[in-house]
Amino acid sequence: MSKIILITGANGSVSSAVIGSLKGSGHKLRGLVRNPAKAGALKDAGVEVHVGDLEKPKTLGPAFAGADTVFILTPPGPRAPEQSSNALWAARQAGARHIVRMSAIGAAYDAPTINSRMHALSDGELTGSGLPYTILKPHFFLQNLMMAAQSVAQDGTVYMAFGEAKLPAIDVRDIGEFAARLLTTPGHENKTYTITGPAAISMHQFAAALTEALGKPVKYVPVPVEAAVQAIAQLGVDTWTQQALEDYFTAYSRGWASDVTDDYKRVMGKSARSVSEFAHDFAGVFGKK
Ligand SMILES: NC(=O)c1ccc[n+]([C@@H]2O[C@H](COP(=O)([O-])OP(=O)(O)OC[C@H]3O[C@@H](n4cnc5c(N)ncnc54)[C@H](OP(=O)(O)O)[C@@H]3O)[C@@H](O)[C@H]2O)c1
Repeated sequence: MSKIILITGANGSVSSAVIGSLKGSGHKLRGLVRNPAKAGALKDAGVEVHVGDLEKPKTLGPAFAGADTVFILTPPGPRAPEQSSNALWAARQAGARHIVRMSAIGAAYDAPTINSRMHALSDGELTGSGLPYTILKPHFFLQNLMMAAQSVAQDGTVYMAFGEAKLPAIDVRDIGEFAARLLTTPGHENKTYTITGPAAISMHQFAAALTEALGKPVKYVPVPVEAAVQAIAQLGVDTWTQQALEDYFTAYSRGWASDVTDDYKRVMGKSARSVSEFAHDFAGVFGKK
């Protein structure tokens, strides 16, 4: 049966991947965007675009009206719990029957990272809401490693503040496919999934995957957390985000959240993409001619 599926954050990385994976599913897709100037591709793809601000509840009604299923994604920030709550309230008012929420790896009240504790607040609100829910907790995105694109292209070096951490990072394309499955197939109500890549990789292994994909030597140089945060501050990044990144660098360097889970494979019947596939698919981003 065809449903109306509303996706928030529709201009962003994950929601774009979700929408890409829902294309051709036969469901009517709606996207909530804040900035309509960025929504051309969504419109071209046949998505019904609604402009709204998750911090302004009065702007949300038309996007949510009649939606059967809602994918709630909020950007990281101090107001994420408020944004998620506004989206949940709008979904409730509209009579939505299933909420899929984008959370994050390790979201818990006692997590060592501020972003994870913020997510825990919203996850708790949703699980206590009485509405059928599914919570998706993906690991660190492989695509975040594109931060290293310039230094890899210029001098074959990955600078990161992860020490010797091993992260089972996941490809955003896999998150999109997984979320699309949750939104369109039964059996996921009132469940929480933690999805990771197929293996926990060190930054040395990431550099090795790039070496192979680019056909030139790439090495990893660990950066002290303090130095990385200083560099981020100099770029003009806000203080909340500086703290959130410092928390993640510190927690991951200490071995936090390094376990691989089998949730992706159990639901999708295949493995998530490996770091080597990621390195090959995006070799051009890292400077391969
Ligand atoms: N990065 C990671 O490794 C990681 C891992 C696990 C989970 N997560 C979670 O993933 C989420 C971020 O996903 P993403 O990277 O796909 O985000 P993203 O690319 O930054 O996109 C977020 C979207 O949110 C929209 N937005 C911002 N403020 C808004 C507001 N007030 N009202 C309505 N829309 C608003 C923006 O819309 P416009 O473009 O229209 O302005 C933007 O397109 C966060 O919850 C984060 O904690 C991240």
